[in-house]
Amino acid sequence: MANLISEVLRQGIYTRIIAKRIQFHQEIESTMDEARLLAIKGTDEGTLIVAENQLNSRGRLGRTWRSQPGNIYMSLILYPDTALLPSIGMIASLAVSRSIERTTGIDAELKWPNDIIVNGKKVAGVLTECSLEEAQVRYAVVGIGINITFDPSTYPELSNRATSLNSELGTNLNRAMVLRCVLHEFDNLYQSAQSGILPLEEWKLKMHTLGQVVNVYSGNECYTGVAEDINDYGSLVLRLPNGETGVFSSGDVTLDETGY
Ligand code: BTN
Repeated sequence: MANLISEVLRQGIYTRIIAKRIQFHQEIESTMDEARLLAIKGTDEGTLIVAENQLNSRGRLGRTWRSQPGNIYMSLILYPDTALLPSIGMIASLAVSRSIERTTGIDAELKWPNDIIVNGKKVAGVLTECSLEEAQVRYAVVGIGINITFDPSTYPELSNRATSLNSELGTNLNRAMVLRCVLHEFDNLYQSAQSGILPLEEWKLKMHTLGQVVNVYSGNECYTGVAEDINDYGSLVLRLPNGETGVFSSGDVTLDETGY
């Protein structure tokens, strides 16, 4: 299989912050771990770690993320101001959604907080991890996994919830083109965010969750209500059956009807 990064570099990367430094691994435990090690050493902001395959990849809320060669697995190292930290997931999910739409022409919606959904199934996920010191961000690592060739039917627990871009398109997508687009979109969004412009409205417009009756799993509790809004910090505002609102900064959402 061709080295994904050589293909991306052949097409050219014209970014200011993102991917000025790149590490590629044929196989690694998790790009998140490698990124953390580099961040602790103080590597440049925007350093990109890409792996063809991961042996121990992780998702949000302590879940396993299934990796197979042929997809996109990456982590970016950032040193954002503390105020920007809650927006990193928003930037990443929007960069992926925009890139899918630009390179395939198919709609890529979002499920709160940061899942990327095509035709009702998850096609990509975002995981943000960070290290704080006295409320200051030492570093943040944002991991992105995009299913290009991934075949969810090999994992029965995923088959009705996950999909891949190739299965949705019915053709073989050029994944280097998708990755290149993600890097450029991320770079643009991150630079705008640094100058105080957040893409909250676009993110909300793509947020399939809004207006729906949802279950929010937060800690050991499950809350059902109408997903009414997203506040300025990216938190989900839920209208509960008793008329009160609940505000969730993290958690997991399933739609009440479909369960996805
Ligand atoms: C989720 O939806 O739960 C987030 C999934 C994040 C997966 C990516 S793949 C690249 C990076 N390395 C990991 O171990 N996880 C993230």
